[in-house]
Amino acid sequence: MSHSPSDRDREYPDGRPLSEQPPWHQDFPTDIPEDDALARREFTKFLVMTSGAFVAGQCWIGLMSLLRDDEPLPEKQVAAESDVPPFGVVEFRYPGEDDPCLLIRLRDGRLVAYGQQCSHLSCAVIPEPERGHLRCPCHNGYFELNEGRPIAGPPRRPLPRVTLAVREGFIFATGVERRTV
Ligand code: FES
Repeated sequence: MSHSPSDRDREYPDGRPLSEQPPWHQDFPTDIPEDDALARREFTKFLVMTSGAFVAGQCWIGLMSLLRDDEPLPEKQVAAESDVPPFGVVEFRYPGEDDPCLLIRLRDGRLVAYGQQCSHLSCAVIPEPERGHLRCPCHNGYFELNEGRPIAGPPRRPLPRVTLAVREGFIFATGVERRTV
């Protein structure tokens, strides 16, 4: 089999010239630099495409959450005022049936309400109003009662706060504030 001059110029991994390569290598000469360049090109293309898909996905999620946060939520009656004595707790679901929340009356008579999913990894927090906190049993996270802010354990973000209105002896959920700090 005859070889073109460029075959002779090719680099081989063992550094020997083409004439000293085994017969199979002489019959099927491989252009290693060209092969490497092709592999690098393909890999770069793959990286660019996957990074682009990732960025597009993040933008979509951000946009959806912005749109959702801007949507006003419908009011929902969650309890009668008389249902919640000091340190009393009422469980309710808001805004959807998959969103468990807790309504709590504090020692001073104020009402507060929070989403029940821990801001760490979404376990259900347990209200302990007499002790002044909500506790997450999964990793011993603690949130204070006044604002639902984390005070101990792994959680770094507050619990979602449910805004409330009281009218004619009834308590209504009116919205959800998802806070990052
Ligand atoms: S899920 Fe609540 S502390 Fe980890």
